[in-house]
Amino acid sequence: MPIKFLDLAAQNAEIRARVDEEYERIHRATAYVGGPQVAQFERRFAQYLGAAHVIGVGSGTDALRLALIAAGVGAGDEVITTPMTFIATVEAILQAGATPVFVDIDPETGTIDVQAVRRYLDAGSFRSPNGPRAVVPVHLYGLPAAMDPLLKVARRHRLAVIEDACQAHGARVHVGGQWKRAGAAGTIGCFSFYPGKNLGAWGEAGAIATDDPQLAERVSVLRDHGRVSHYLHRESGYNARIDTLQAAVLLAKLERLDEWNARRRAIARRYRELLSGTAVRTPIEPEGTESCYHLFVIRSAQRDRIRDALAQAEIGCGIHYPVPLHLQPACGALGYQRGEFAASEQWAASVVSLPMHPHLTDREISVVAQTVAAALAK
Ligand SMILES: Cc1ncc(COP(=O)(O)O)c(C=O)c1O
Repeated sequence: MPIKFLDLAAQNAEIRARVDEEYERIHRATAYVGGPQVAQFERRFAQYLGAAHVIGVGSGTDALRLALIAAGVGAGDEVITTPMTFIATVEAILQAGATPVFVDIDPETGTIDVQAVRRYLDAGSFRSPNGPRAVVPVHLYGLPAAMDPLLKVARRHRLAVIEDACQAHGARVHVGGQWKRAGAAGTIGCFSFYPGKNLGAWGEAGAIATDDPQLAERVSVLRDHGRVSHYLHRESGYNARIDTLQAAVLLAKLERLDEWNARRRAIARRYRELLSGTAVRTPIEPEGTESCYHLFVIRSAQRDRIRDALAQAEIGCGIHYPVPLHLQPACGALGYQRGEFAASEQWAASVVSLPMHPHLTDREISVVAQTVAAALAK
């Protein structure tokens, strides 16, 4: 039986009537840019995250770029991140005019290795004139990075912490003894609402979250051509506003996010049980983290065999990501070589993402797990 990797149609069926109502309001007002849906979504998402401010922008890439610029990152600065992420993390750093510096991932979790950040900072031999100005932890596949120790290191070295929470809507992490939402734990959190995300629009959209009113104001000005009033432009900015039609979809989906994430977590538990007798490595959640399972990524030396068996059985799967960023042609000018980030390279060679979405049935989960187990037994 064919099994979808992602089922957006099933999600849409749950929210369609609610979105139609909102769309009707937008058409009646013909307010296609800005308007009450944007303000309402920003308010509700801020409330959800426990952040003082949310500013909607055009995409996750816009969120990262504007967050970096607002945090004062620019030419001559370095921004530390990992090579095991989507390329947008690094594009945003480059577009802010800064130099991306990679450190490896923790081989158990896939998120930034805080010891490696500490080693790089303590060594004091930097790749750019000003040295590091910010660090971008990526909450990979929905699992928050180790924010508590990272925030301590960042504070000591006066680095802004720009969270790439583009895969982590609703995930939680312990900071200073309290649970925080991913994206609301650092200086600024960046979200993508690309359609397949846990909170996904019907097109491109993104947002930043922060407790700092000055950072929020700067992003809000930058996203709208540097405008402070209709005909007054304080600085040269961008057209990076969130689309009103997308804000309406997000308003409707935000109401379902916790329920959908709870189902994702239940699916992850079931996958783990069913695969426990096999040689594959399933994702872990270190104490003080709660993943929202944007993806359920297993690791195996037999990755290609697993992928072929899934394809044969018409089961959707993905590889996130087959080429770590330090080996991407687009990052060639950074001068990194194969072998420099062993854990990232090992993950890139062994990861496979299984179907994961809130509408996956128990029967489908069993069939996927059986197919993986059978591929390994061959
Ligand atoms: C980790 C990560 N960072 C950044 C982005 C960029 O988001 P967008 O595609 O909305 O620009 C994505 C989206 O795929 C992502 O997964």
